[in-house]
Amino acid sequence: MKHLLKLGDLTTEEIFGILNLADQLKYERKNGIGHHHLKGKKLGMIFQKSSTRTRVSFEVGMYELGGYALFLSDRDLQIGRGEPIKDTVRVLSRYLDGIMIRTFAQKDVEDLARYGSIPIINGLTDYCHPCQVLADLMTIREYKGSLKGLKLCFVGDGNNMANSLIVGGIKTGMEVSIACPDKYRPDEEIVSWAQQTGNLVVTSDIKKAAEGADVLYTDVWASMGQEGEKQEREEAFKGYCIDEELMKRAKSDAMVLHCLPAHRGEEITDEVFEAHAQEIFDEAENRLHAQKAVLVKLLK
Ligand code: CP
Ligand code: NVA
Repeated sequence: MKHLLKLGDLTTEEIFGILNLADQLKYERKNGIGHHHLKGKKLGMIFQKSSTRTRVSFEVGMYELGGYALFLSDRDLQIGRGEPIKDTVRVLSRYLDGIMIRTFAQKDVEDLARYGSIPIINGLTDYCHPCQVLADLMTIREYKGSLKGLKLCFVGDGNNMANSLIVGGIKTGMEVSIACPDKYRPDEEIVSWAQQTGNLVVTSDIKKAAEGADVLYTDVWASMGQEGEKQEREEAFKGYCIDEELMKRAKSDAMVLHCLPAHRGEEITDEVFEAHAQEIFDEAENRLHAQKAVLVKLLK
């Protein structure tokens, strides 16, 4: 594993390797056992979109591993003034040991890997969010013991989260169902790849999708960069909400996850969110541990 560009590039063994190391790093941190695996290493963090969790967990993660993280906003970088990404990365490769990037186009992340000579980590694109889903898988395994055979249901927009959950879920042996309006389906290449395994259902019928689920997952109706479509999306996604009624369709011990930030009253009710806050904030915490594992695998 040289980069983390998307989960589709990882084998099942590589995914479990990251999850196992993440569990170990979490245990060590809780017990005050230091782990300076990346002493002196430097990570550049390029952000072309906002972030709370990704930024802070990567920065703290590098610090705890004995390394250093630089926050690079595109407002300040020459990228913002039109310097090609393929030039920027050839320069940054001379100073840094790795780059984490949050941006719009998946191609930009792939180009960093192509033209640079250091590991590249995808911290979210319009296409996928692999770091989030590694933390999600870690959290599900913590609560349920194992992943194989579980049913994961995602409700809402067939967006970056849906794409990565399909790939991560299928690769770790889960059954995945996606409930979304027909116009907002996940990436069709990912869907046809996943459907070949027989473990993916995509439907506009939210009740059917949630039937017997072990995990219910949702995300915002309008992602970063889609602010202009807010009204149209509010119309299209009405009813695609995890509420008490939908919870009755899932298993009685079903967990609820959300990558955050959440919009209560849209994709999830306040009632359901607060009833499952423990899981949701464990999930947010696990971003730190899962990403530290990725950093150790790639930069050590
Ligand atoms: N879930 C997630 O990636 O959060 P941020 O946008 O705050 O980084
Ligand atoms: N789908 C959301 C995820 C945020 C973590 C977005 O891209 O804005």
